[in-house]
Amino acid sequence: MVIQEIDPDLVTGLADRRRLFCLGHTSTVAPDRLRVRADRPAKQGTFDSAPPRLDSRLWIGRDRCDEMTTKRTANRDEAPTTAVVERLVELARHAPSVHNTQPWIWRRSPTGVDLHADFARHLPAEDPSGRNLAISCGAALHHLQFAAHALGWETAVSRLPLTNDESLLARVALGRSAHPMVSPEAVEVLRQRCTDRRRFTAWPMPTERLQALCRITEEWRTHAVAITDAAAKFRLEVVVNRAVTEGELDGRRLREQDSWVGRRTSDGIPLAVLPAASDPLRARSRFGPGLLEDARMAIAGGDGLIVLGSDADDVGSWLRTGEALSALWLEATRAGLSVVPMSQPIEIDSTRREIRDEVLDNSFVPHLLLRIGWQAMGRSDLPRTPRRPVSDILR
Ligand SMILES: Cc1cc2nc3c(=O)[nH]c(=O)nc-3n(C[C@H](O)[C@H](O)[C@H](O)COP(=O)(O)O)c2cc1C
Repeated sequence: MVIQEIDPDLVTGLADRRRLFCLGHTSTVAPDRLRVRADRPAKQGTFDSAPPRLDSRLWIGRDRCDEMTTKRTANRDEAPTTAVVERLVELARHAPSVHNTQPWIWRRSPTGVDLHADFARHLPAEDPSGRNLAISCGAALHHLQFAAHALGWETAVSRLPLTNDESLLARVALGRSAHPMVSPEAVEVLRQRCTDRRRFTAWPMPTERLQALCRITEEWRTHAVAITDAAAKFRLEVVVNRAVTEGELDGRRLREQDSWVGRRTSDGIPLAVLPAASDPLRARSRFGPGLLEDARMAIAGGDGLIVLGSDADDVGSWLRTGEALSALWLEATRAGLSVVPMSQPIEIDSTRREIRDEVLDNSFVPHLLLRIGWQAMGRSDLPRTPRRPVSDILR
């Protein structure tokens, strides 16, 4: 079934669209030496003017570590052609990003390709520290590596290389490999992965499944914890709902968020992928809609919940969380599971602290919350969110 783009005017109002997006679904419708600097107030610009560059104190070169991971030794004898790099960047474009801002730029290098943050796509009101921006870039970095391995290339990744260019996040050296490290057909999962915010089925997510997904992230030295205990789940639910309410009261955040919804450009979130205000499941009841408002809850009882995070709260750790997010999400997609990130409770300082202290017992710093579940069988495929052309992001 083809889903048509919904006319924005048909959606009752910005508040409704906003709530749906915030909830993520609708029930009615690095290294140890890096220091934690989350509490340092970040300089914020006004949203109405051009977004400012990120506060360089948060991204400055002194946090750089030139940390390297190699998937086999890249054979430098056969440098990738322009066509190969274009193909890899084309596939990496499918990575998820906050508000589909796609805040990345790739630059060809003599040995492969470099990943830069595109600070012009930073969200100053909702993401002053650039956490979501760096996580998004990390997801793109993992997508590129995944695509390279499937197409027969080995990668050597240097994260935050020592340089004065604070936008340079990673260097990827590519070398021809004798055998693909991932099956070539696996690249299809990059196109299949999407954020489906429709309500999951009520089937409870088995704990073992969630824990298996968490284990995937170990390679990136992130922490991933499945919240399965009923009391912890309830506490998280309360905090998430408070974050949604706080978000609705913050005009600057709302204006910024709205500016990324229904843009009809090569970025942002089309209305066609946001659930409508009237819940299709309820509409199928014997009676037509009445007046009774049901509680809008950000998390439903059967939802699987995973918190991703790290010991640190800095650019290097966010980048790794993004890579881990991508690895987890691709595996979940392969297994037929739906993943919906919820960054709002982390973006707001008070609710981020509550999650760290009251849900995680202060064991690590949360970076992103994920809702995981099954979509009902027979649901229509979601239209894909748009992506910027390769010519815009490969320089
Ligand atoms: C760091 C990050 C934060 C995100 N936060 C949210 C969120 O709070 N709510 C939501 O519904 N989607 C969230 N998303 C999903 C993005 O909106 C989504 O990836 C983007 O619109 C592209 O769509 P796609 O995932 O379907 O390709 C987030 C994604 C990332 C990478």
